[in-house]
Amino acid sequence: MHNVKINTDIKKGRIDKNIYGHFAEHLGRCIYGGIYVGDDSDIPNVDGMRLDVVEALKKVKIPVLRWPGGCFADEYHWMDGIGEKSLRPSMVNTHWGNVTENNSFGTHEFFKLCEILGCEPYICGNVGSGSVQEMSQWIEYMTFGGKSPMSDLRRENGQENSWPLKYFGVGNESWGCGGCMRPEYYADLYRRYQKYCRNYDDNILYKIACGPSDDDYRWTEVLMREAGNYMDALALHYYTIPSGNFEDKSPATGFNEKEWFTTLKQTLYMEELISRHSAIMDVYDKEKKVKLIVDEWGVWYEAEPGTNPKFLYQQNTLRDALIAALNFHIFHNHNERVTMANIAQTVNVLQALVLTDGEKMIKTPTYHIFEMYTKYHDSDLLDISYDPGEYIMEGSKLPHISVSASKKDGQVFLSLVNLSHKDSAAVCIEMRGEDYSFIEGRILTSDTIDCHNTFEKPKAIAPDVFDKIILQQGKYIVKAPSSSVAVLTFG
Ligand code: AHR
Repeated sequence: MHNVKINTDIKKGRIDKNIYGHFAEHLGRCIYGGIYVGDDSDIPNVDGMRLDVVEALKKVKIPVLRWPGGCFADEYHWMDGIGEKSLRPSMVNTHWGNVTENNSFGTHEFFKLCEILGCEPYICGNVGSGSVQEMSQWIEYMTFGGKSPMSDLRRENGQENSWPLKYFGVGNESWGCGGCMRPEYYADLYRRYQKYCRNYDDNILYKIACGPSDDDYRWTEVLMREAGNYMDALALHYYTIPSGNFEDKSPATGFNEKEWFTTLKQTLYMEELISRHSAIMDVYDKEKKVKLIVDEWGVWYEAEPGTNPKFLYQQNTLRDALIAALNFHIFHNHNERVTMANIAQTVNVLQALVLTDGEKMIKTPTYHIFEMYTKYHDSDLLDISYDPGEYIMEGSKLPHISVSASKKDGQVFLSLVNLSHKDSAAVCIEMRGEDYSFIEGRILTSDTIDCHNTFEKPKAIAPDVFDKIILQQGKYIVKAPSSSVAVLTFG
């Protein structure tokens, strides 16, 4: 029996809803086909955004959406994506398959998408191949309400009012696809570019510097030392790859128990990464004013057979649902430093929430976790203690369960992940502090570890009611099936 004690009267910080953020890049079929089909498409749409996808995404309450990349951001020239569509120049998307980008989805379309979804925009500017002037003019175009060359241009293009824009990234992966820079060089460039990211009117930018990849602790050290005073946040990228080796990827489906185990292990490495990067940040910023945002995270498998490998289109299974939940638990625990995270990516790319095929759309297991965890948005993390137990395979150990709990509007939420592919977990929940009664439970699980939805079987895996909870002497006894994620609500 795993004993879980929840101190319902002890809060451990605020879980910023932005850790449930998203990322949509001009990559494969994420934007084109997945989100944007154009207003002359046969697929039902509103202003060119496909209705089925936006309706599905509204239910997960996307708080913030990062765009236009990724690697694409550092070769994106925003002026190509404004004005009359037929006059917009094309370009080659060299990172993602050399496909022609016609720029029909640009700044105005992005803000429209955010308006439809009810989320905050997060724009990543071009440092790799763009100039300081280009970045500075983009900000003027978007956020200046007065009269200026750029705001007049915006008005000519049909947008009278400036848009509110808070989150602005100064380059992406500047250590790699964003320019192959050394941290010393990027730190200086960051200082220079950010200087011209102006605050117009009452719009205050929240400036995000390119942060480290994985365990590049030196990057964090140099950035914090040389540029920490000029940034609001540093962005960490970490992708879960089953083998741990970027050059050795495996399929998204059809894996065995060993691969289930190793993939979960790889994802839990996020805990160490955040702890160690945070510890370095602490040296320069004890008060934790500079945030660590994980603006790219998720699983990276082989592309689905028969698809363009550069489009990064992959299936999504129960394994990915657990991966999402485990990452959320890690982000919750680091809420002092981690105030935003953006899954890569929202539609049709990597760990997507929805997949499309022509006019068809399916929700993935990852979608269901985002939806089940909406309760956590802007809630207060609760103090808990529990015995995670052990899940052992070939001498290697993982916790058998992972638990997180929070409180909002008089309700307590508890999420319980059973990592084991074969053993259920008996859990005894003790609520200390205040009296609560069980209200409802939902669970995502299956007997098949690679269970996933397909266009033929779109509901092979979906959340179910979970009410196998017994109240015994003031404690709740739960039996969590193997390979499951449950969210319980008490009120
Ligand atoms: O999400 C796919 C790519 O992964 C992004 O474009 C890039 O930033 C990262 O390497």
